[in-house]
Amino acid sequence: MSDYIGTATACANSNIAFCKYWGNRDATLRLPVNGSISMNLEGLFTRTTVRFQPSLALDEVVINGRETTGKGLERVVRILDIVRQAAGMDVRAEVISENNFPTGAGIASSAAAFAALALAATRAAGLAWDEAQISRLARLGSGSAARSVPGGFVEWQMGTGDEDSFAVSIAPPDHWALADCIAIVSEGHKATGSTEGHALAPTSPLQSARVADAPRRLEICRRAILERDFFALASIIELDSDMMHAVMMTSQPPLFYWQPATLAVMQAVRRWREDGLQVAYTVDAGPNVHVICPQREMGEVAHLLQQVSGVKRVLCATVGGPARLV
Ligand code: DP6
Repeated sequence: MSDYIGTATACANSNIAFCKYWGNRDATLRLPVNGSISMNLEGLFTRTTVRFQPSLALDEVVINGRETTGKGLERVVRILDIVRQAAGMDVRAEVISENNFPTGAGIASSAAAFAALALAATRAAGLAWDEAQISRLARLGSGSAARSVPGGFVEWQMGTGDEDSFAVSIAPPDHWALADCIAIVSEGHKATGSTEGHALAPTSPLQSARVADAPRRLEICRRAILERDFFALASIIELDSDMMHAVMMTSQPPLFYWQPATLAVMQAVRRWREDGLQVAYTVDAGPNVHVICPQREMGEVAHLLQQVSGVKRVLCATVGGPARLV
């Protein structure tokens, strides 16, 4: 039984993966085929309020002012059901969630959303869960959300099962002053969402090679972060992103997220790096390009990105903290 308090509000930042999550060994439990590493993005967040109300007959979910139904609602109800069961209560909830960044354009909104939901819902139900338990719960809503629970630079360990597949911080936000300048080339909703995409990963003959090599990439990435070695980080995150996109492009049916401007930015980033600028690209399941650089170069990188043809605007974020109650 719980110390039921009824309502709670939580904020969680989005995150950008340096070593990507792509493919599940158990899709229902969202147990990934490889571990992943990311950086939280300060200020690109979701704020979610969960209010358990005895007067409600059904759960109600409002995202960015619009009532959610269908699959989106089911995904949230699943999390609420787990929380209700753990708390030994059966009260329906109202969930109100707001993102402060565009959804569906490769800036993982589901990551911030399910991290904030997991924290707010457990707190509203009076459960005093620790970070690992909240990360596991967030994972069931969206895999990458597991990584938005701890702060700073984060690793999601693939684990051996539900119990030990959660994310931990490998370095706090102030460990390394990096930034993510996101070159937005399209704000439209993506054609194939990541949930469907993960299911296609095993259809690519390249996926097994990507997965087999993942422990090596994770080790290089972890070490680059701990040693603040930008050039080591740059080459490993670009390789990891390119390998994931090679899998996507060779899946059946193929997933092709890049647009001409995506490639133009990737090529420009490589050129700028050859000229001595500390920049590296990584691309998620969408056409926008995340350009990682030291925070002191953020202004210059944003300015350069704006000159690349096809870039509509640039969003910048520094390294973010953990999900928190507000
Ligand atoms: C390409 O976490 O969005 O951004 O668990 O189905 O919600 P679901 O998938 P999601 O997948 C993220 C894929 C990625 C890479 C990453 O963030 O690691």
